[in-house]
Amino acid sequence: MSTSIENPSAGKASKPITVPALAARKGGEPIVCLTAYTAPMARLLDPHCDLLLVGDSIGMVLYGFDSTLPVTLEMMIAHGAAVVRGASRALVAVDLPFSSYEESPEQAYRTASRVLQETGAAAVKLEGGRPMAPTIRFLAERGIPVLAHVGLTPQTVHALGGFAARGRDEKDWQPIIDDALAVAEAGAFATVVEGVAEPLARKITEVAPNPIIGIGASPACDGQILVTEDMLGLFPWNPKFVKRYADLGGNIERAVEDYAAEVRARTFPGEKQTYAMKRSGRQKA
Ligand code: KIV
Repeated sequence: MSTSIENPSAGKASKPITVPALAARKGGEPIVCLTAYTAPMARLLDPHCDLLLVGDSIGMVLYGFDSTLPVTLEMMIAHGAAVVRGASRALVAVDLPFSSYEESPEQAYRTASRVLQETGAAAVKLEGGRPMAPTIRFLAERGIPVLAHVGLTPQTVHALGGFAARGRDEKDWQPIIDDALAVAEAGAFATVVEGVAEPLARKITEVAPNPIIGIGASPACDGQILVTEDMLGLFPWNPKFVKRYADLGGNIERAVEDYAAEVRARTFPGEKQTYAMKRSGRQKA
């Protein structure tokens, strides 16, 4: 059961959000999604989110890599299981890391089934448009729910030449629209569209039959996702599409500065944080 200090309604029994329930939200109430990598963070986010993504952004955000490519399946499984332990209501999806699924639908099935078995998550996410459609179909037909990811796909950062937004020229739109339609037709229950010009994201949301979850896309999408550490001010890199809802990084720095000053001045620990001796009967008061 999830609890939240901030949200008094958290902890009350609430029905978990299922894949079909989320898929049915096309054009309806906006779908609220965030990334989560740990159980305590999942516990805090769960009462407010419809979907928690254990993203391979973990490689850059928690592990300090400069891309998502070094992330391993073992990392995703360990963090996926932690997030599932912290969540009770939100649907949890886990990213398949680079090189764990692209080779063949069979390789993807082996990886995805391990992820579902060993984490307890309800769905996997994988990157890629038309070339991944047969894999998405293979998984979906075998009962593995797939969240697709098109537009800016960080696992192909080298082929794309960087993390720049896509589709800012109308002549580049069609392949991205075709990607979104192909993954939906193959059975993706929803699709993340990342880093594309706003009118293109609107167009994709209009034409795709499944819910479109935007990141750096458009408010017209069926839902939004952000990397939690970005929106909380815990990660130094601040792409244009991130709104900072808090400055937790600043709060941490100020708290640590205070702690260091008090340790150096020997004012911490104070009387409140210090154990006194037990009073014994033989000691005078
Ligand atoms: O890895 C990730 O966190 C993601 C989201 C940014 C969509 O793919």
